[in-house]
Amino acid sequence: MTEAVEAQASLEAELKDEILRMYQEVADNPRSEFHFYHGREAAELFDYPADWLDRAPAEAVASFAGVGNPHLRSDLKPGETVLDLGSGAGLDSIVAGWQVGPSGTVIGVDLNPAMCRKAQTNAAAAGTSMDCRSGSMEDIPLPDASVDVALSNGVINLSFRKRRVIEELFRVLRPGGRLSITDIVSAKQLSQSIVNDPKLWAS
Ligand SMILES: C[S@@+](CC[C@H](N)C(=O)[O-])C[C@H]1O[C@@H](n2cnc3c(N)ncnc32)[C@H](O)[C@@H]1O
Repeated sequence: MTEAVEAQASLEAELKDEILRMYQEVADNPRSEFHFYHGREAAELFDYPADWLDRAPAEAVASFAGVGNPHLRSDLKPGETVLDLGSGAGLDSIVAGWQVGPSGTVIGVDLNPAMCRKAQTNAAAAGTSMDCRSGSMEDIPLPDASVDVALSNGVINLSFRKRRVIEELFRVLRPGGRLSITDIVSAKQLSQSIVNDPKLWAS
């Protein structure tokens, strides 16, 4: 391994640890201070209807950490199979579950197995169900051409290998399938001191 490759691998490992720590903290202690919008305040800012937020379990709403509203364009229909990539505490999976109904399927994928358990508990409390797989967005644990719609909210920016994530999304989508992604991008080249800071990258 060259020095540059070693440095990259070590930064990626550090970033993964920080991501696990940070979003676990949002799930466990949503009232703590974070330097990003989260919880009901964020969901309202992104136009999640109040009746969804009243109906979803308080825990799923309080730990919401998305950066936008993928439901505005997802056009989910009863019976569809939906992937929620980086499903976190489960609010987006719950909303998707209500829309696809009992004949549909929602599959969450999250790096953190504890998040998956939390999301499944929250989905059950919301009167819907979700199957959450603990795994990585760079190797989505689903077969080829197995989902109608992939949602993702604030997750792809966290990856070191964004092209690989997009390739994986296209692999698991059925022909004619749809993507609804909300994420953050920078119009400016970020300085190396920002890029190399796992705390800034993870948030
Ligand atoms: C910004 S939160 C978004 C959570 C959820 N979409 C929401 O709106 O509340 C990011 C989530 O992505 C998960 N995550 C981060 N990196 C991941 C990866 N490489 N593969 C799968 N999930 C990942 C984190 O564990 C966390 O739950």
